Amino acid sequence: MEDNKNTASNLPLQGARGQHVVILTGAGISAESGLKTFRDSDGLWDGYDIEEVATPQGWKRNPALVQEFYNMRRKSVIEAKPNAAHFALARLEEKYKVTIITQNIDDLHERAGSTDVVHLHGVITLSQSSKNPNLTYPIKGWELGMDEVCELGSPLRPHVVWFGEAVPMIETAMNICDQADIFILVGSSLAVYPAAGLVGYVRNEVTKYIIDPKIPPVYNISGLVKIEEKATIGVPKLVDELLNDPK
Ligand code: APR
Repeated sequence: MEDNKNTASNLPLQGARGQHVVILTGAGISAESGLKTFRDSDGLWDGYDIEEVATPQGWKRNPALVQEFYNMRRKSVIEAKPNAAHFALARLEEKYKVTIITQNIDDLHERAGSTDVVHLHGVITLSQSSKNPNLTYPIKGWELGMDEVCELGSPLRPHVVWFGEAVPMIETAMNICDQADIFILVGSSLAVYPAAGLVGYVRNEVTKYIIDPKIPPVYNISGLVKIEEKATIGVPKLVDELLNDPK
């Protein structure tokens, strides 16, 4: 496997108009918008026990604690703004078909203007019936109350995929990765499956750019181009090259 350590300026560029760019994002792309990542120092999992706030068992044991955890995060998301990386990815749509597959539950990609976003782990601005996960509802403001119920009368929970729950969009995401002509990974430690396995569904001959100040370990993947930069630096640079270059 041959991989290059590159800054965005000397990239082996490809990119023809109308090609399909698939981007997989993680918490790192929203870090510079002020939203905590999970596994960096002082990350979310430093302050909370995953078992207690991000599992169905935790919800059963203490739903109010879980609700409070997501209400606080929802408040930060509403107060946050998309950053230069989110806006740059939205600009890619000027010349490419672009699909963003995100592990993030924030809506910063949509607020930056991206029009095709697949949320693998749910969306924090929606609630879902605790009886039927297909029943989802927009949340007005940042607070989902413990007294709010779905049309079946069951308590509303955050529309988020918890550890141990199925990832309904994973098949869709695998198929999208298989169609990629260009693949970009931004701001994920690749610590959580099945999302972390998606890189393996991108065809061998496709160039795979990884933008992260701490490049995560990726094994047996060809065509890797590592850009060791923060998202707000690396993503706009790469997008500029891809937009200035389509044949
Ligand atoms: N720019 C780009 N990347 C960054 C930045 C930044 N400014 N700051 C941190 N990062 C990188 C880190 O180096 C790390 O690789 O973002 C990544 C964050 O990794 P995690 O905190 O593990 O987040 P993520 O990979 O999205 O976690 C995946 O785990 O807890 C679950 O459901 C949760 O969706 C989440 C999943």
